[in-house]
Amino acid sequence: MPSIKPSARELQAGGRLCGKVRVPGDKSISHRALLFGSIAEGSTTIHGLLPAEDPISTACCLRSMGVKISPIIKDQIVVVEGVGLDGLQEPEEVLQCGNSGTTMRLMLGLLVGRQGRHFVLTGDQSLRNRPMQRVGQPLKTMGAQLQGRSNGNFAPLAVTGQKLHGAVIGTPVASAQVKSAIILAALTAEGTTTVIEPAHSRDHSERMLRAFGANLEIGGEMGRHINIRPGSTLKGQEVVVPGDISSAAFWLVAGAITPHSEITVENVGLNPTRTGILEVMEQMEAQIEVLNQRDVAGEPVGDIKVRQTGRLKPFTLNAEIMPRLIDEVPILSVAACFCEGESRISGASELRVKETDRLAVMARQLKAMGADIEERSDGLIIQGGKILRGTALDSETDHRVAMSLAVAALLAEGNSMLDRSESAAVSYPNFWEDLERLRN
Ligand code: S3P
Repeated sequence: MPSIKPSARELQAGGRLCGKVRVPGDKSISHRALLFGSIAEGSTTIHGLLPAEDPISTACCLRSMGVKISPIIKDQIVVVEGVGLDGLQEPEEVLQCGNSGTTMRLMLGLLVGRQGRHFVLTGDQSLRNRPMQRVGQPLKTMGAQLQGRSNGNFAPLAVTGQKLHGAVIGTPVASAQVKSAIILAALTAEGTTTVIEPAHSRDHSERMLRAFGANLEIGGEMGRHINIRPGSTLKGQEVVVPGDISSAAFWLVAGAITPHSEITVENVGLNPTRTGILEVMEQMEAQIEVLNQRDVAGEPVGDIKVRQTGRLKPFTLNAEIMPRLIDEVPILSVAACFCEGESRISGASELRVKETDRLAVMARQLKAMGADIEERSDGLIIQGGKILRGTALDSETDHRVAMSLAVAALLAEGNSMLDRSESAAVSYPNFWEDLERLRN
């Protein structure tokens, strides 16, 4: 008998998924609520903050710069006592961003304009190997000073706060992290800054900063031009974080492919910059319904009901839709294994610089189960309909890979063993409990 590593988890094949589930708070919105609350005047009250490792990394960094943030505990309101736009103190320690790209990139934008203060940022092994130049370069055009390995591309990164000036910046990739970092830097720069994106990325920063009182003007085709005028004071707010559609995606796909399943995912954020997964499920002709659509604190929200009904059509994803479903590609590659025919994913090279190289990791792990999957430089080609078999799997430390493989393993012949399953806690601490409950 091989020895079971502590983080390895047995995944039982078979069964159906039924019932209601509430996924935890949106990760992107949670980071932003903590960050913007910290630089506002007065207190910010956050309902539904994601109590997971990534937002906790953001909170720990902010606390070490003198911001008081109440404990981040499931189902508890979090209160941030803002220190104002210039109130962050120089930390005595290195800012540890853990596994969180959003923490590091947004923190860079926040810190480069803190004149005379010095900051060092680092992360885990995955984060230390993710590209930071895409943020560092535009910030340097605003006068920022930052250094790191490989000409400033890799953490550990050192920042010495400077007086920044506004600039017109075209970002090379449609990345909400890059855009948000520039917006944060622009809040304390001299003069107006304009950010122009090649395609519209998620707009949570723009929505929330406006609610906090920032002077942001959004224009251009599909909101790709953002003008930021400094000088406004941010005021603490009440933020309500909706459920994360990127976490809901695991149940939406599981419910569509697992025989006799019916799942309702309640209270899911439906921001149109995030709902690409729903468009793909339509392409697949999956049975999904969006119910109780409403607006909660500036973000659209609804419940999503999915039912497995039979055959699913293969789908095609290209660069156009990618920003609206970038984090859902791993679970969609699992969905493709259960569609009838060839699905093609292209324009997805950004996946190679996520927590892992998600194209390589998903291809490797699904191949180990017997899937017919071809890796391309910017995507995957998947022939659906091959029978998957249970086997030894590995999340390779990536939270979205862990949860995607858990769904694939449900449909396999024979049980699987998933190594490093604990990585799910980066964005969905209760994933394994919710899976057990839905399997009833
Ligand atoms: C995020 C933006 C996306 C996404 C990440 C969260 C954010 O990354 O993949 O999980 O909160 O801004 P990019 O900005 O690199 O596309």
